[in-house]
Amino acid sequence: MIFAVLIFLGLTATSLQACVNKTTDQQDPWSVQLLQSTLTVNNDFDASINGSSADGQYVIEIVGNKGKVIQNSRNTQVVVNNQIPWGSNLTLYSIIGADSTSILMGWIYCSHDDLLTALWLEDTSGLAGFTNSTVVGNCHADSTARNSSYAIREECITVDPPSVYPSMQGLDVSLQPHNVGAVNLSQEYDLLPFEIVDCLDCGNTSTNGWVEIHSVLSSKSLSNICIGIFCLYAEKGPDPMVLLSYLNCFQQQEKSTQWLPATYDISAYTSPPPPSATPASDAATSFPQSTVMKIVSLMVATIF
Ligand SMILES: *[C@@H]1O[C@H](CO)[C@@H](O)[C@H](O)[C@H]1NC(C)=O
Ligand SMILES: *[C@@H]1O[C@H](CO)[C@@H](O)[C@H](O)[C@H]1NC(C)=O
Ligand SMILES: *[C@@H]1O[C@H](CO)[C@@H](O)[C@H](O)[C@H]1NC(C)=O
Ligand SMILES: *[C@@H]1O[C@H](CO)[C@@H](O)[C@H](O)[C@H]1NC(C)=O
Ligand SMILES: *[C@@H]1O[C@H](CO)[C@@H](O)[C@H](O)[C@H]1NC(C)=O
Ligand SMILES: *[C@@H]1O[C@H](CO)[C@@H](O)[C@H](O)[C@H]1NC(C)=O
Ligand SMILES: *[C@@H]1O[C@H](CO)[C@@H](O)[C@H](O)[C@H]1NC(C)=O
Repeated sequence: MIFAVLIFLGLTATSLQACVNKTTDQQDPWSVQLLQSTLTVNNDFDASINGSSADGQYVIEIVGNKGKVIQNSRNTQVVVNNQIPWGSNLTLYSIIGADSTSILMGWIYCSHDDLLTALWLEDTSGLAGFTNSTVVGNCHADSTARNSSYAIREECITVDPPSVYPSMQGLDVSLQPHNVGAVNLSQEYDLLPFEIVDCLDCGNTSTNGWVEIHSVLSSKSLSNICIGIFCLYAEKGPDPMVLLSYLNCFQQQEKSTQWLPATYDISAYTSPPPPSATPASDAATSFPQSTVMKIVSLMVATIF
């Protein structure tokens, strides 16, 4: 479903680690380092997209698969790295970029008659996390392959972990309280959770909801940084697995969706009501940002 996209990088294979706090001279494990580099995004499409919200708070301008997102006065350079058919009338484009405070990713909704209908953004700083902005504008894409170069400035991004998050333990994934986790994909990544979405009542029955761990993945050896969502389902089979989905990386070298065998604990989250009890909507109130997030999460659940 997700079109193959190759990203070739002009990066040296330096070790990528957390940033060093210049006061303490210690590495801060809850940080990731973007190395100064130029990467080339090699897409099999060529998209130009621009639009803005009615209040002028959000602007997006993309030409030839790269450009910027402006949120008030905050300007983030982004590249488009995926084109995803979405239902019968829409195509989604995923974007990723970074500025001095956070890593930003998003989804651009384009209709088949070339109208930009919405822009959904999520970032690691929490400042603009989970914003679904009604942006209108124009999209134009054709199937001409296009390589765009993209300059990354060296930045240290600090991730503020949620005070509580689920634990996971499997052969290739590990996340325990108070520590940066780890996941092995095509290479080893540190796993830094930055947002939890309680979606236990988002399922199509009262028992098949899930909890999402929105995370930054930072590779230990070859420099790659991704944002991805671990979905931990309430219904566990005999061999429990977590779903890693929506992986959006500066280097597109990982599958965007994969299942990883792991045990996990989501008991800290509100249990959904038993089938005969209150309607599912009553359970929605416990999580403050739930409304937008649940729409987002339903999108996550249905994309494959
Ligand atoms: C560096 O460490 C000091 C002492 O722990 C702390 O106060 C400061 O906020 C840290 N700086 C950064 C940029 O994290
Ligand atoms: C947006 O795109 C349209 C069509 O490509 C173009 O005419 C217009 O000038 C662009 N606007 C901005 C602000 O880039
Ligand atoms: C797609 O567009 C057609 C024609 O505009 C409309 O009838 C249909 O309801 C739309 N489908 C969805 C899923 O929005
Ligand atoms: C993009 O870069 C790749 C790898 O360097 C090259 O094979 C391809 O021909 C380039 N495509 C375009 C459209 O320039
Ligand atoms: C990832 O692989 C390395 C090397 O095989 C191993 O030492 C490490 O424990 C693995 N990490 C996880 C989270 O499984
Ligand atoms: C409910 O969701 C499950 C898993 O997400 C899916 O396999 C099943 O087909 C869905 N059932 C209906 C009736 O939509
Ligand atoms: C974002 O908002 C648009 C317009 O209201 C809506 O069609 C879309 O489903 C929303 N997307 C998400 C992920 O919430």
